[in-house]
Amino acid sequence: MLIDNYDLETLLTNDDLFPWLLNKAEEVRLKERGDKVYLRGLIEFSNYCSCDCYYCGIRKSNINIERYKLTREEILNLAKIAYERGYQSIALQSGEITTDKHVNWLADIIKAIKDLTPSNKQSLGITLSVGELTYAQYKKLYEAGAHRYLLRLETSNKKLFNAIHPPEQSFDKRIECLYILRDLGFQVGSGTMVGLPGQTYEDLVQDLLFFENFGVDMVGLGPYIPHKDTPMGKHPMSSQITDTYTATIKMLALTRIMRPNINIVASTALRTLNEASLETAIRAGANVIMPILTPVSVRNNYSLYHNKRYTPFEELVKRIEAINYKVGLWELGDSPYFFKRIKNDDRRIANE
Ligand code: 5AD
Repeated sequence: MLIDNYDLETLLTNDDLFPWLLNKAEEVRLKERGDKVYLRGLIEFSNYCSCDCYYCGIRKSNINIERYKLTREEILNLAKIAYERGYQSIALQSGEITTDKHVNWLADIIKAIKDLTPSNKQSLGITLSVGELTYAQYKKLYEAGAHRYLLRLETSNKKLFNAIHPPEQSFDKRIECLYILRDLGFQVGSGTMVGLPGQTYEDLVQDLLFFENFGVDMVGLGPYIPHKDTPMGKHPMSSQITDTYTATIKMLALTRIMRPNINIVASTALRTLNEASLETAIRAGANVIMPILTPVSVRNNYSLYHNKRYTPFEELVKRIEAINYKVGLWELGDSPYFFKRIKNDDRRIANE
């Protein structure tokens, strides 16, 4: 795969090409996705987790954080706030809990959120990011009214995936979940972490090709940031990617150039590394931000990585407008690629 005669690895490694890459990505972004930045009010509703990912601060073995789960009423109130502020979409995110009881509880909340909206108005869009579930559970959540799902692959390198997860978690299962989500009709987002120990630039190239080959509707990628209460944070190991910040921006830019009409998130993790990344990420092609709605009282317990940054919504808006972009208030801002994809699927099925 070449972009203007440069191969992807060269674009990731050669810093002289960085300004050119950013310009090219912004050009593609403005042409294909315009100057809007869409909002997903982020509700991190629980940090209970049955997984033990070696990098993640809310892994089940971390006894240094207090566990919390918001109540149905708290979640509905936050959704109402999101609606009233014109966010038009929320993202419900949590650690992974796979019992039917929990999934049914969540499905009921999703239905109640959909019913919050005045009947003559477009209802809140709901993105879920609650991990690996069964087909039946995903179906239940889709039928309840969630229409987007984020499930990061973390890395397209199976060996590296196995090195950063305990043996119970499998790469193949993760991929299978992504296909199930797509079959069910979700807009499917995935993504990776950049700068993982042992990760190479060739791995990043493969990550980009995975986005292309799977045909993701949305991408959420961010830098890996060590967390002190995790096995990987306690025993830091080197990576070929030393400047994770720049590498992440380059990944965003390349993703935008390769997938012009998908949605790309400017991650909070990136802002944690460098506050000024908001503007750079948007110019590099990110067109979605997730303002945090999680209550202040529990926010610090949703610590996937160290020193998570919180930028107030008003500040985000000011800064976006200062670089001549617009905030997509009252708009769903769905991924155009998704609609194109399902139209093609329908056509294919009709021809079969
Ligand atoms: N650094 C960066 N991102 C992390 N995540 C979890 N732990 C970390 C970390 N230490 C990301 C993973 C996961 C998402 C919920 O958060 O990509 O999928």
